Amino acid sequence: MSALDLFNLTDQVAIVTGGARGLGRQMALALAEAGAAVAICDLLEEDGQRVAAELAALGRRSFFGRVDVTRVDEIETFIGQVVERLGKIDILVNNAGISSDGLALDEESDEAWRRMIDTNLSSMFYFGKRVAHHMIDRNEGGVIINIASINSLVISNIAPRHNVSYCVAKAGVAQLTRGMAADWAPYGIRANAIAPGTMLTAQTAASRKFPEIMERIIANTPMKRYGEEEEIKGLVMYLASPASSFMTGSLVVMDGGTTIW
Ligand SMILES: NC(=O)c1ccc[n+]([C@@H]2O[C@H](COP(=O)([O-])OP(=O)(O)OC[C@H]3O[C@@H](n4cnc5c(N)ncnc54)[C@H](O)[C@@H]3O)[C@@H](O)[C@H]2O)c1
Repeated sequence: MSALDLFNLTDQVAIVTGGARGLGRQMALALAEAGAAVAICDLLEEDGQRVAAELAALGRRSFFGRVDVTRVDEIETFIGQVVERLGKIDILVNNAGISSDGLALDEESDEAWRRMIDTNLSSMFYFGKRVAHHMIDRNEGGVIINIASINSLVISNIAPRHNVSYCVAKAGVAQLTRGMAADWAPYGIRANAIAPGTMLTAQTAASRKFPEIMERIIANTPMKRYGEEEEIKGLVMYLASPASSFMTGSLVVMDGGTTIW
């Protein structure tokens, strides 16, 4: 197979959670541009329908489902719809997530902590396990990509916003990914995680309102800029395709160099 053919996803079916905007939208577009049918889910219905139309305009089968990724009943209904409408699931991108409220740990409410862990970590288990059941039953393998963060590795040093609950959830995503890789390798399922640095999306819009925080992030980043949303496209295509056929359990950092020092 030629090198470029390794990235071809024709006849593959993918799910991208949190696909209505930001990194999720870019990854859905990348997978569709590489040939896959893509189902996206999100809480944001209008944005989600718009992205589904963008995917369809690429000539791919696609649809949007309104799903709260913390609700297992909604996840199960959506997975059933994907299999019914698109035939199967080959690729799952667990991307949906929320940002931290930025409070110090001693001020964090128990409720906010639970919401963070449930949305940014447990949802990837809820979704991943159910998609893995489908992949195991089909016996054709599959790919899971979990969106982690550089905060899987380091605590955010954007004082006073250390974002500890977010960092703990994302550290869990890295370890969950290794666990999925270990348990599901016998079924031909590969699981890898992407750890982005600070990207220009709605999620980081709050921090961009504070010039001192922006300056701090840029000073911490050797490339002296935020990442652009579409810079995630190449990596998700690589991890979703046979180009990465011997990779599983990896946490791949793309952060303009932030974590080198
Ligand atoms: N932007 C960054 O700098 C950055 C850096 C590292 C990691 N990440 C991670 O990348 C992923 C995407 O982030 P983004 O920057 O594109 O943010 P975003 O806020 O633009 O997109 C996140 C999407 O997830 C959806 N979502 C949130 N909670 C949900 C729920 N309970 N059920 C269903 N959908 C839900 C949102 O509606 C939104 O469309 C997140 O997991 C985030 O933590 C982002």
